[in-house]
Amino acid sequence: MEWTKEQRYRKIEDASKEELLKLRSEVMECKWRQTFHIQPETGLLNDPNGFSYYNGEYHLFYQWFPFGPVHGLKYWYHTKSKDLVHWSNVGIGIEPSNRYDSHGAYSGSAIEHDGKLHLLYTGNARDEEWGRHPYQCLATMDKTGKIEKSSEPVIDKVPIGYTDHFRDPKVWKEGKEFYAVIGAQRENETGCVVLYRSLDLLHWEFAGEVQTNLPSFGYMWECPDYFVLQDKGVLIFSPQGLKPDGDHYHNIYQSGYLLGTRLDVKDRTFTHNAFQELDRGFDFYAPQTMIAPDGRRILIGWMGLPEIDYPTDQSGWAHCLTLPREVTIRGDKLIQQPVKELQSLRKEQQQIRDVLDQEKKVYNHFTGTTFEMVCEFEDFDADEFGIEFRAGDNERTILKYDARQKKIVLNRTHSGAPVGEAFGTERKCSLDAPKIKFHLFVDISSVEIFINDGEEVFTSRIFPKTDSREIRFFAEGGSTLFHAAKWDI
Ligand code: FRU
Repeated sequence: MEWTKEQRYRKIEDASKEELLKLRSEVMECKWRQTFHIQPETGLLNDPNGFSYYNGEYHLFYQWFPFGPVHGLKYWYHTKSKDLVHWSNVGIGIEPSNRYDSHGAYSGSAIEHDGKLHLLYTGNARDEEWGRHPYQCLATMDKTGKIEKSSEPVIDKVPIGYTDHFRDPKVWKEGKEFYAVIGAQRENETGCVVLYRSLDLLHWEFAGEVQTNLPSFGYMWECPDYFVLQDKGVLIFSPQGLKPDGDHYHNIYQSGYLLGTRLDVKDRTFTHNAFQELDRGFDFYAPQTMIAPDGRRILIGWMGLPEIDYPTDQSGWAHCLTLPREVTIRGDKLIQQPVKELQSLRKEQQQIRDVLDQEKKVYNHFTGTTFEMVCEFEDFDADEFGIEFRAGDNERTILKYDARQKKIVLNRTHSGAPVGEAFGTERKCSLDAPKIKFHLFVDISSVEIFINDGEEVFTSRIFPKTDSREIRFFAEGGSTLFHAAKWDI
């Protein structure tokens, strides 16, 4: 279906109760609804926003278009949780309502100040010629959960030298000052991040561009995030316009990080090493982090990408968020691990220990559609080995280690209903290790795979048939020992 501008920029109050109920029941019939991921009740979800801990609870908002699986008038939808695992839907957090956010309350972040949660976001306005005007806006949430928008933007201009692709403020505090990074495009159409500072979150001063050694790296950097971890500076962003390069950058847009010395907020220099992708799967974008009360740095991403059709579109909804991951640094790399709280989802456990020798095996009752599984392979001389899961007649998602090339390979060619095939159906990354560990979280239409304790992550949607539930183990051209533990979820 083609969506007209009127349909895309309609407000939710213009829909009748019956219309919304009808949308909801259509969505509920979809066979690919998730069971332990945050997903929209109707319509489209994209970036996580305002991820924070406030007043004894985790708060997480997301970009939401209520009426269908397309990008239209965006709201912030609010969810909250006491444990990062069980989330409850609160309702709309920020609605576009004035001339500064008339065409969407775009992405942003949250920070507590003076007893209130401050939400800094981009108001997206369009003029009559459909020109874009970004404003950085503020809303505050009090302890009763009431959210109030400021009537005027806190940053009402794009600084000279940048285009109107200027959005997604991520705020933090250092000493007495607040800082925010904003994703930007220079007038020469290259992407970058700029820095602002403020003493009160209301008055912001443009400090200048963050000086990286990537003067020409894509045409726009969306959703930046900056934090200090283990005394290093980490700058995360989602660059658009990178070309595929070996096993890298095969998705439509990428997201990754620069790891370096702490950002010098005075002269804005950031000394860092090469850009690294955060995730090697098919569906991951626009992540955001926060600090938990116990000091952990936690990241959640959008399990989707713009401008790609997904099989759930036909049922009136699209996308979900990833599970929360704890981020740490090992060597010159970010390590991502599922947060420990996720263990509370574990139900019945099963285990297998076996040797595979040029064969493919299934085990009695060792099957599932929603589960967590840890498989460890060791003592291998096989050319390749791995697993097929959500497998059935003519369907399977393959995860393997190619020991000749020393690469992890995820293949969704036969995973089920096709998605984003124009961008390929295989993702790979190099890994050289004597033991290979796959840690999977499989939901009805997704998989998140942590390799060797978070060295690499592959996040992907898959759209198998409901009865594709086999788990197969294989080794080719030799043998391997393996141990697998699985918990139903
Ligand atoms: C990233 C993004 C952001 C923007 C938001 C709009 O996916 O394009 O840059 O704020 O989505 O929904």
